[in-house]
Amino acid sequence: MKNLNGLTAVITGSGRGLGAALAMTLADAGCKIILCARNKAALSTVTNQIEQRTGERPDQVVVDLADNASINHAIAQITERYEVIDLLINNGAMWLEASDEPHSEQEVFGTINAAITGSFLFTQGLLPQLKCSSRPDIVTIGSISALLNAPLHSVSVPFYAAKHAQAALATGLQQMLRGTPVRSLCVHPPYLDDISPADAEWDAIPDRTKGERATNRDVCEAVMFAVTRPRHITLNMTIDTDEGGLFG
Ligand SMILES: NC(=O)c1ccc[n+]([C@@H]2O[C@H](COP(=O)([O-])OP(=O)(O)OC[C@H]3O[C@@H](n4cnc5c(N)ncnc54)[C@H](OP(=O)(O)O)[C@@H]3O)[C@@H](O)[C@H]2O)c1
Repeated sequence: MKNLNGLTAVITGSGRGLGAALAMTLADAGCKIILCARNKAALSTVTNQIEQRTGERPDQVVVDLADNASINHAIAQITERYEVIDLLINNGAMWLEASDEPHSEQEVFGTINAAITGSFLFTQGLLPQLKCSSRPDIVTIGSISALLNAPLHSVSVPFYAAKHAQAALATGLQQMLRGTPVRSLCVHPPYLDDISPADAEWDAIPDRTKGERATNRDVCEAVMFAVTRPRHITLNMTIDTDEGGLFG
């Protein structure tokens, strides 16, 4: 997509899964990529994959969104290196499945802090750079667990609450940033098949039929659609497969 060419994009949780797929998709569209996650080795793997695809080597910043010192360090690294950020994708969030056993304090703090405290502080820290862009966008990757009255299913209560709060983060930012050039966009994916743009399977995804599961590609395409809308449009998107919005 030509109109993203040359933009600088920060993507959290981009060492694997959906975040890595988003980074590759944006790199393919000509964006300069700043990969962020906790796991340095995973970031290096995605860095090499993107360099092979595009010839451009992404930047890497290690950040633990559940750790305040790590967030501050990451913000300092990014703001020292970049005067302008055009696109921030808040994708990183700790997954926590429901369990019959009590969740540990570390799991609960980690889940809530990474999704909410960390995503907010990281966004706030990068806002001056976003405000220097001619077309700044913040994209929150939520979940169907973020939706009002969504069934809990296999999801833990802390994760469910964190995702609800992430939806509020996205809409709160929309209100806070009213009258500024910065848009806050939101995409709520359903359960996903973890397929990478580097996998041969990626190309067959558009042939899926109704009732089949959604994939990373479907979320990447939703994000690409949202960020390429004219500037007067802000999208909050829910991706439904064949659930009629009930996600049963
Ligand atoms: N996969 C699905 O079915 C699905 C469905 C709905 C919504 N989502 C949402 O989509 C996003 C990506 O999900 P995914 O399935 O690709 O990944 P995932 O397996 O749920 O892992 C989460 C991602 O966030 C990063 N992360 C976790 N804790 C972090 C922390 N404390 N600080 C910084 N980064 C952290 C992880 O990287 P590191 O471990 O390297 O830090 C990883 O890239 C998440 O927000 C998830 O909730 C996923």
